[in-house]
Amino acid sequence: MSDNDINSAILRRPVNIGLLGLGTVGGGTAEVLQRNSEEISRRAGRAIKIVAASVRDLNKKRSPVLKNVQLTLDSEEIVDNPDIDIVLELIGGTEDACKLVLRAIENGKHVVTANKALIALHGNEIFSAAQRKGVTVAFESAVAGGIPIIKAIREGLAGNKIQWLAGIINGTGNFILTEMRDKGRDFADVLSEAQALGYAEADPTFDVEGIDAAHKLTILASIAFGVPLQFEKVYTEGISTIEKVDVEYAGELGYRIKHLGIARRNENGLELRVHPTLIPHRRLIANVDGVMNAVLIRADAVGPTLYYGPGAGAEPTASAVVADLVDVVRALTSDPENRVPHLAFQPDAIQDIPVLAIDEVETAFYLRMQVQDQAGVLADITSIFADQGISIEAIVQKEEQDETGCVPLVMLSHKVVESSMAVAIEKIESLATVSGKIVKIRLETLG
Ligand code: NAP
Ligand code: HSE
Repeated sequence: MSDNDINSAILRRPVNIGLLGLGTVGGGTAEVLQRNSEEISRRAGRAIKIVAASVRDLNKKRSPVLKNVQLTLDSEEIVDNPDIDIVLELIGGTEDACKLVLRAIENGKHVVTANKALIALHGNEIFSAAQRKGVTVAFESAVAGGIPIIKAIREGLAGNKIQWLAGIINGTGNFILTEMRDKGRDFADVLSEAQALGYAEADPTFDVEGIDAAHKLTILASIAFGVPLQFEKVYTEGISTIEKVDVEYAGELGYRIKHLGIARRNENGLELRVHPTLIPHRRLIANVDGVMNAVLIRADAVGPTLYYGPGAGAEPTASAVVADLVDVVRALTSDPENRVPHLAFQPDAIQDIPVLAIDEVETAFYLRMQVQDQAGVLADITSIFADQGISIEAIVQKEEQDETGCVPLVMLSHKVVESSMAVAIEKIESLATVSGKIVKIRLETLG
């Protein structure tokens, strides 16, 4: 047989896949690969076959589509198997996942992963190893579930200078906020449903406290601005502190509260932040509800673009995993130097832009405080704001008195540097006519 015959025989054989993990995403991926196998291989140019998968429990009931798949408790068997071309890392967590992915790369295998924590924390090391070995590590499903946001930024917007992006990038959190707002449901009850539906992380505090969104924002910022992955520099707040009353007052003022990840480049550096945010209700992104995610990107040539779709769940995530698989299969025979770079920019063109501390970030604010309903209170408060150069956009005093005779005062500020707002809040909280802590939520017009 000539070299050409051998090469074409290799190209005719199916691409062999080894799965690490057969849970929500692994199971969904197996289903989609089986159901759409013909269309997928017409796109990829090769048949794709799952040959082995690792799990924690061999006795768990699995889908019938896995009947010919060899199951093992030993993930190393998969990454060391010479017959496997591509490893799908779908076990989650960072420690074992990182070791297994690095070992698969060392063995010359391409990797597809849905693991945002892994990429956000260890991506710099993983991509360097992959580059050295000439293999690809694909991670579309790690951000915003089924939305092809990595491809859109990395390839579709390659001609642009990206100015900022803002996204609802945690499906569980958005599902909880929507159900609480629309149906008055209890936080814990909705979280249990999100877990049953396979939306939540193994540790759901990652969803609720904004850590999962911070992982995803780390990845988006890196590919949008050509900076290293730097999860430790993301300012992170979750949704657990949002109160129903603020959702109502924000609504009365024409805003929705959403949990946003925001990355913005300005003349002083890069903002990387994840927190609840008031958004004008007329913005499309303010109306993204349930498990749906959306990412709004402002870039210099195209202007604003919005990407919308399911942010979690078995088959939406599998859609992105399989898209990565098809990309990797198509590129199997291509020169590694000519593939799309992992982080969108060529590895030697990644730049360190300073990341701003949250104190240095400029935003508008929603504030709610309990104040005595008496003359002069408002004057004291507004004079503190004036001293800090803070301009007020709206003030609403509500009528509901609490047991101490205080009433809620709700204010919207214009944009101000966070450190000035912190000083003003401290001074206002120390006034005898103000009771308790001030609730502060950042506000973005996203115009
Ligand atoms: P999951 O349902 O908990 O599934 C995890 C799978 O991995 C299970 O099959 C489990 O085995 C197996 N596993 C866990 N640790 C293992 C180990 N040390 N060795 C071998 N197998 C192991 O999790 P998932 O929701 O599919 O999430 C997987 C990954 O996708 C995570 O990184 C997650 O962040 C990411 N992701 C999830 C979604 C989503 O909507 N769920 C969306 C995007 C990204 P058993 O079945 O035997 O327990
Ligand atoms: N737990 C994540 C979410 C899964 O709810 O968004 C998708 O990444």
